[in-house]
Amino acid sequence: MKYYITTPIFYPNSSPHIGTAYTTIAADALARYHRMNGDDVFFLTGTDENAQKIVRTAESQHVAPKEYVDGVVEKFKALWKALDISYDDFIRTTEERHHQVVQAIFTRLYEQGDIYKSEYEGWYCTPCETFWTENKLVNGRCPNPDCGREVELLKEESYFFRLSKYQDKLLEHIQRHPEFIQPSSRRNEMIRFIEGGLEDLCVSRTTFQWGIQVPFNPRHVVYVWLDALINYISALGYPDGEKYQRYWPANVHLMGKDIVRFHAVIWPIVLLALDIPLPQVVYGHGWFLGKEGGKISKSRGNVQDSFELIRRYGSDAIRYFLLREMQVGQDGTYAEDNLVERINSDLANDFGNFISRSLAMIVKYRKGILPDPGVDTPLEAELKSLSTEVQSKVEERLAACDPAGALEQIWRFVARCNKYVDETAPWALAKKPEEEKRLDHVLNTFAQCIRIMTILSAPFMPGVPGKTAALLGKTEGDFLNWDSLKDWNGLEPGLRVVKGEPLFPRVDMSDWITQEELKEMQEEKMTSSAEPAEEAVPEFEPIKEEVTIDEFAKLDLRVAKVLKAEKVEKTDKLLKLEIEVAGETRTIVSGIALHYAPEELVGKHVVIVANLKPVKLRGILSQGMIVAASHGENLEVLSVDAKIPGGARVK
Ligand code: MSP
Repeated sequence: MKYYITTPIFYPNSSPHIGTAYTTIAADALARYHRMNGDDVFFLTGTDENAQKIVRTAESQHVAPKEYVDGVVEKFKALWKALDISYDDFIRTTEERHHQVVQAIFTRLYEQGDIYKSEYEGWYCTPCETFWTENKLVNGRCPNPDCGREVELLKEESYFFRLSKYQDKLLEHIQRHPEFIQPSSRRNEMIRFIEGGLEDLCVSRTTFQWGIQVPFNPRHVVYVWLDALINYISALGYPDGEKYQRYWPANVHLMGKDIVRFHAVIWPIVLLALDIPLPQVVYGHGWFLGKEGGKISKSRGNVQDSFELIRRYGSDAIRYFLLREMQVGQDGTYAEDNLVERINSDLANDFGNFISRSLAMIVKYRKGILPDPGVDTPLEAELKSLSTEVQSKVEERLAACDPAGALEQIWRFVARCNKYVDETAPWALAKKPEEEKRLDHVLNTFAQCIRIMTILSAPFMPGVPGKTAALLGKTEGDFLNWDSLKDWNGLEPGLRVVKGEPLFPRVDMSDWITQEELKEMQEEKMTSSAEPAEEAVPEFEPIKEEVTIDEFAKLDLRVAKVLKAEKVEKTDKLLKLEIEVAGETRTIVSGIALHYAPEELVGKHVVIVANLKPVKLRGILSQGMIVAASHGENLEVLSVDAKIPGGARVK
């Protein structure tokens, strides 16, 4: 089956941000899922470069529009790369291949009488690139609730497109194809809008030259929305291109709710006029709002640099967060502390921790060799049937363009896997020789679960298959076949597995954010939620692999007296300590500042690893490490009574 999915083409009048990235990430997840299913996928994105606002922005920066957009387009491409976006083509509306198609379509519509020349008198909102009639304005300003900016009075000779002629035909199509506009709230909105009566649309401008010329009247440039919508077929080489024959009509045009009107009214009418089949689904998702409630956008100044976020948290985690937060038919909230919370709970604690603890047990109890499966108990039977159920629900949610719903299902399986570890208690089985076969089966089941989790999550977090494959002795490609979810025993006994690094290490926002900002956020949270958040009970890390007494003896643990302590500048977590050990004074940098005020430590006799290779932290040479116990939020350094002097051995 072919699957053609598109994102809107983005205005390159400012750098991309997390809000605009959502559509592209969601489209990417759908494209990847369909590829894993063996479908013939074409995933298109690009940039909408012929807008008047581009000219304005370029002028304000004293560069030519083309030069300006070339620079921003590079940023878009770099961001998509950093977010692992697997588009098949990137169309720019300044490309010749696009111009030709737009001009041919404009001429044809004119020749068949659907476009006619007249005079436009009315208002134009440049940020929205939209025409408005006087009676639609709100207090004389743009009526778009998210804009509300000043509009300009235009009076110019223009070409018009007869939307009104196709109104009934369009309504009929919408009625007959309930799946055409989704979700249903947007569909109802659009039906009301069309029933209110469509006015003919002004489709050319004469007051500037940037854009695609009307071929038979070069004083005019084509209205940017008409030009932009055509990208969905110009990129395929309409009308004769092989790709056009192969992929059109689109299976899904994905976009934010603000531009559904253009895709569900103007675009289908262009297609009806050209006698081209309509796309199957126009899907309008909500917006990402900032904490203050407004849409995340460059003009509101509430966006964070996306590259910096990826550097901090990684592409998979950001993709997961954005996809999980946007519920069908609703807006999502973006805030960095919510992102961190999701990473720590869903990715580090649930997903990553299952993988590390279960692999650690295979390493510990079976020297890393995957044992044979055995006889199922009801526990394994339940896991298997849940896996089948989750798989089909994920398919159903993705068919409805609902990645959040799909992830919710996958996490039902992840939670069940974690519970399975506690229920089977392999550490207890390992003590009983008669349970050897049972332990084999449990450990084998762990690995099969990791495989299932990996395949299910691969469309959303494309970095995961490569990482788990390395742990399980497989290749990334082994985990990219959706159909293989049907085989439970996809991993053969005898595979050599390793524990590796945690897939999603816990993150601590204070690495990047000042203490004050953190406090502010926490206070906000306290006042905004009625019920205090339940204290999460942290899991214990699995006990590490055995070492011999000789290996242990290599560590030189000593008592050290803290002489001085101070905060390391520009960090919230680090303390610089001066300690005395065996008559020697040393400096140690320790990440305990959130738990101890410097003065609390002075005079204490703490325990340190004295023969640890020195490292530089924040430019300070740290000669050793303070030993501390930590559990959840709590941390305490190990200390001894003052009668044991600095330098005494701990063994
Ligand atoms: N150029 C037009 C689209 C033409 S398609 C033929 C355009 N571009 S845009 O750059 O302004 O927006 C592109 C997409 O980003 C839209 O789908 C819009 O809804 C989405 N988003 C912009 N800010 C957003 C959020 N804060 N949250 C979610 N999506 C957001 O419109």
